[in-house]
Amino acid sequence: MSKVYVSNEYGGPENQELITRNTPQPGPGELGVKVHAAGVNPLDWKVRSGVAGTPRELPAPLGEEASGIVTAVGDGVEGFAVGDPVLGLVAPGVGGYAEDTLLVAESTVLKPEEISFTDAAAIPVAGASAYAGTHQVELEPGQSLLINGAGGGVGLMAAQIGRVHKFQVVGVDHEDKRELIESTGAIFVATGDAVAEQVRALLPDGVDVVFDLVGGEALRVVAPLAKNPAHVISAADAATVGELGGQVLRRTPEMVGQITGVVQYGLVDPKVDTTYPLEQAGKALAHVEQGHARGKIVLELITSQD
Ligand SMILES: NC(=O)c1ccc[n+]([C@@H]2O[C@H](COP(=O)([O-])OP(=O)(O)OC[C@H]3O[C@@H](n4cnc5c(N)ncnc54)[C@H](OP(=O)(O)O)[C@@H]3O)[C@@H](O)[C@H]2O)c1
Repeated sequence: MSKVYVSNEYGGPENQELITRNTPQPGPGELGVKVHAAGVNPLDWKVRSGVAGTPRELPAPLGEEASGIVTAVGDGVEGFAVGDPVLGLVAPGVGGYAEDTLLVAESTVLKPEEISFTDAAAIPVAGASAYAGTHQVELEPGQSLLINGAGGGVGLMAAQIGRVHKFQVVGVDHEDKRELIESTGAIFVATGDAVAEQVRALLPDGVDVVFDLVGGEALRVVAPLAKNPAHVISAADAATVGELGGQVLRRTPEMVGQITGVVQYGLVDPKVDTTYPLEQAGKALAHVEQGHARGKIVLELITSQD
C-alpha cells in the first residue's frame, strides 16, 4: 500500500485529500517508480477543475511529472532496470503526487547524476514544454523570441534556452518578476497596456516568434507583434491562438531527453522556487493555482539521495 494525493470530485480544491491505495503495478510500456520528487503544474488544477484533460475516474490522482527510482519494469520496456534513477511523464490517471507511481517509458529517461531529483521533477512537463516552444519554429541566432508569462515554470526555462541559442529574448510578465526574468539574460517588459508599444520600440520590424504561456486577452495583446501570425505558439489557450492563426504547442516524448541533456550540462536551471512535502500537496497546488510562484513548485518526498 502507498499514499497518493487525489481529488474526490471535479471542481474546487475542497475535495482534495491524501489517501492510501494499492501500490500501482506497471503495465506494458510503463515503469513502476518510487517517487523522490513530483512537479506541480497548472494542468493539475485544471484537471481537478474539469477544464482540461480527459475526464478521469474519481478519485482522480493528481500530478503529471515525477522523478524517482525504478521499482518494476513493465512488459516490452527496454533500457531500464530496477534501481535506475529516472525522470518522466506519469501514466494517465496514476498521479505523480504519490509515494509510488507509474511512468510512461517512452517519455522517461535516466536521471543524470548532475541533476538532483528535485530539479529532475520539473523537466518532463515544464522543461519539455520550454524545449518545444523554443524549437517549434526554427530560429537563427539573433532572431527574436517573445515569451508571454516568462516568469513561470515553463517561461524561465524557455528564456534560458533562448539565451543558449543566442536568440534575442523578450520576457513579458508582471513587474515583480523583472529581476528574475532579467537573470536569464532576457529583456523584461511589464505586461499591461504599454506592452505592445514597448516591444515595438525594441523590435520595430516585429517579433520572429511569440511563445504564449498566458492565453486570453494577454495573448491577443502580444500576438499582433509577431511578423507572421503562424509563428505565434500558445501552451495556454488553444482556442484563441487558433482564432488568431497561430499554433498550439506540440510536445514529443523525445523532448524529455533533449531538455534533460541541456540541464545536465548546466545550460538551463529548472528554477525550482519552493518545495513542499507530500502531506502539503494541497498547499503546493494552491501556490501554483493562485499565481506569483517564481519558477517551479515541486513536491519533495525523499531527499536523502539527492
Ligand atoms: N500544452 C502543454 O503541453 C502545456 C505544458 C505546460 C504548461 N502549459 C500551460 O502553459 C501555461 C504556463 O505554465 P507554467 O507552468 O509556466 O505556469 P506558471 O508557472 O503559473 O507561469 C505562468 C506565468 O505567467 C504569468 N502571468 C499571468 N498572467 C499574466 C499576464 N496577463 N501577462 C503576462 N504574464 C502573466 C504568471 O505571473 P503570476 O504568477 O504573477 O500570475 C507566471 O509568471 C499554463 O496555462 C499551463 O497549463 C501547457
